[in-house]
Amino acid sequence: MKLPSFFTTLAVSPALAAAYSGSWSPATAGDVRAPCPMLNTLANHGYLRHSGKDITLNETITTLQTVLNVDPVFSTFLFEKALTTNPYPNATTFSLEDLGNHNILEHDASLSRADWFFGSVLLFNETVFAETKSHLTADIISLEMAAKARLGRVETSNATNPTFSLSPLGMDFDFGETAAYIMVLGDGAAGTVRKDRVEYLFENERLPFELGWVRPNTTITLDGLIAVANRLFAAQGLTSEEAAKRVRSSRDMHFGH
Ligand code: HEM
Ligand code: MG
Repeated sequence: MKLPSFFTTLAVSPALAAAYSGSWSPATAGDVRAPCPMLNTLANHGYLRHSGKDITLNETITTLQTVLNVDPVFSTFLFEKALTTNPYPNATTFSLEDLGNHNILEHDASLSRADWFFGSVLLFNETVFAETKSHLTADIISLEMAAKARLGRVETSNATNPTFSLSPLGMDFDFGETAAYIMVLGDGAAGTVRKDRVEYLFENERLPFELGWVRPNTTITLDGLIAVANRLFAAQGLTSEEAAKRVRSSRDMHFGH
């Protein structure tokens, strides 16, 4: 898709993001939030509208590019996926809350949210995140560690949730989300990220400026994200197809199908 040149040439000041960080405030009555810690963070800062409702394509592109250095083509892709969660036909906006509509983009085995069967898929869940953190055993999280944390959640959900499911799209998002926090908060090329920044983002839904985080220098593209996701598969000793099969076969074993 061809984007207006305004978006591809938008001049961005990294200082801009820091300048806005003072206006952070959590959601209040009437605001809605997502199963996505990053979109919630952007809304809490007011980079996305604080209500979390009726988010447009332009707003998505501009915010993700200005604050996180996400490529407009990738943001457009994510926005189009987000539109599929809006129950109204021909919608042109999405709300953060709709992103939680189960088994569209939202999936089981999240890193910080309960499975749909057990509770809210929107709210941060301390117990679930504690399980994730139990795998993050060093100050610098490696790809291998991040992959283990993701797989650990899949195995727990598979063993405990009678309605467990992870569709192929859910799997892509699942790997993509781990790749995304590494790339946005850490170093995608090295495959490392500071644990304190990851915990801070998930637990506060706030950008970790006070931990020295700045907007990434490298533009985050869909291809770049897929490359890191593939390294996560490899860190588990699996190709993406094998990883998908493993989820299916452990589920089949669990239910004796
Ligand atoms: C989770 C959508 C941008 C990081 C999610 C989920 C959705 C979503 C639906 C829930 C999946 C689940 O069930 O766990 C979107 C959309 C975006 C966007 C539509 C852009 C328009 C980003 C960006 C980041 C990010 C830029 C960068 C760090 C994450 C992470 C999770 C997540 C780490 C996993 C949360 C967990 O497992 O508890 N996102 N997201 N997202 N997203 Fe986003
Ligand atoms: Mg989920």
